[in-house]
Amino acid sequence: MISKHILLAVSGGIAAYKAAELVRLLRKQAFDVRVVMTKSAQAFISPLTFQALSGHPVGTQLLDENQEHVMGHINLARWADSVLVAPATANCIAKFSHGLSDDLVSTLVLAATCPVFVAPAMNQAMWNKAVTQENVTRLNRDGFRFIGPATGEQACGEIGYGRMAEPPVICETLSQFFSREEGELSGKKVLISAGPTREPIDPVRFITNRSSGKMGFALAEAAIEAGAIVTLVSGPVALAPPLNCRIINVESAAQMHEAVIAVAPGSDVYIGAAAVADYSPNANQPEKIKKNETTLILELFKTRDILADVAAFQEQRPFTVGFAAETHDLERYAKDKLAKKNLDMIAANWVGKDQGGFDRDQNALQVYWKGGEKHLEMTDKSQLARQLIKLIAEKMNEKNTT
Ligand code: CTP
Repeated sequence: MISKHILLAVSGGIAAYKAAELVRLLRKQAFDVRVVMTKSAQAFISPLTFQALSGHPVGTQLLDENQEHVMGHINLARWADSVLVAPATANCIAKFSHGLSDDLVSTLVLAATCPVFVAPAMNQAMWNKAVTQENVTRLNRDGFRFIGPATGEQACGEIGYGRMAEPPVICETLSQFFSREEGELSGKKVLISAGPTREPIDPVRFITNRSSGKMGFALAEAAIEAGAIVTLVSGPVALAPPLNCRIINVESAAQMHEAVIAVAPGSDVYIGAAAVADYSPNANQPEKIKKNETTLILELFKTRDILADVAAFQEQRPFTVGFAAETHDLERYAKDKLAKKNLDMIAANWVGKDQGGFDRDQNALQVYWKGGEKHLEMTDKSQLARQLIKLIAEKMNEKNTT
C-alpha cells in the first residue's frame, strides 16, 4: 500500500522515548523510516534502539566520514517524502525558524524540499513564550505542518500545552496526508476563513458574534478528505484544528483581511465561511474606558470586505465562495451578494430563532451560482461540508473547462 519514506528527526526532550513507539507505528503502516538524532536526544534514548526498530543505520552527526558514506545528509533530505521532527524542542523550532544549520537535524530540515511535520514537546511556559509563538507562526507561514502540542500533565509536573502529540495521532496525520491523492480536490490549494472576529473596543473589551467556527472547520476537514492542501484562517474558536491543515490564528477583521489577502493569490479556492464583523470601533484606545458617563456612544466603521476583495483579484483569482446568513428574503439577498461581490458561488442559510446556522451542529444550505442552484438538506455540519466541497469541485471544474 503506502511505501513512502519518512525521515524522523528526534531532538532532545523527555518525549524522545515516545519516538521509539512512533517508529514502530509508522512501520506498521508500511512507511520506510530512517532516523536522525540530535546530540541531546542521545542522552534520552540510544541510536541503537532506533536502528533496531527502523532497520536502518541512524544518523547522529553532520560531518562524519562513516555516516556520510552510508547516506550523506543531502541524499537523506532527497530520499525523504516527508521529514518528521518528533519531539521538536523549543531550541529546534527556534533554529528552523531562523534557518540555522549547525547539526545534522537542522541541516536536513533546511535542505528538505518535501513537507516537514513538527511535533513540539516542551514545558508549557516555554511553549507559551512570545518568542516561541513567533517562531511557530513564522514556520507555519513557511509551510511547516505542526502536529500538536497536546495539553495535559507534563513531565515537569506542570499542566498546559506542550506535551508531544501521542504517537498514534502523529502516525494518523502522516497516513492521512499520504493517502489523499485520489480526492476530487487532489493537490488543489484551498483557503478557508472560519469563526467570528473580535473587534477591540479597548484593551479589555471587544465586539464579537455567535459564530462557533464549526462550519469552516468542517469544510477544512472535508477539503482535506477530498485531497486538498488546506490553509485555515481562523478567528477565536474553541475547536481543535483538523489534522494536516495549516492554521493561521487571527482576532480582528483587519487581521483576517491581511492573512487571507496574503495567502489567496496562490490558492485555487477561497471559501469565506467566517462571520467577519461588518463594523469595528477601529479602536486605537490604549487605556480601559472608565464608566464616568451615563451613556457611552461607540463609533463603528465599516470593515473591509475580505470576500469582495478576493473576488476582485485581476490575476490569480481563486474560485471564490461566500456565505450568507439571512433572517428573511434569503434567496433575494443571497443572489444579490453573489452578483454584487462577483462570487462564483454563495451558500446561504437561515439564522435566527429556531433555525440552524450559528453555534449549532446541524445546518441546511441553499447554494447559488451563476446559472444554477441546489438545496442541501438539514444535516450535521460535517456531512453538509462534504456535500458543499463536492459541489465546489464540480462547479470549479466546469468553470475551468469552459
Ligand atoms: N465577509 C467578508 N468580509 C467582511 C464581511 C463579510 O469577507 N468584512 C464575508 C463573509 O465571510 C461571508 C459573506 O461575506 O462569506 C457574508 O456577506 P455579508 O455581506 O457580510 O453578509 P452579512 O454580514 O449577512 O451582511 P448584511 O448584514 O448586509 O446581510
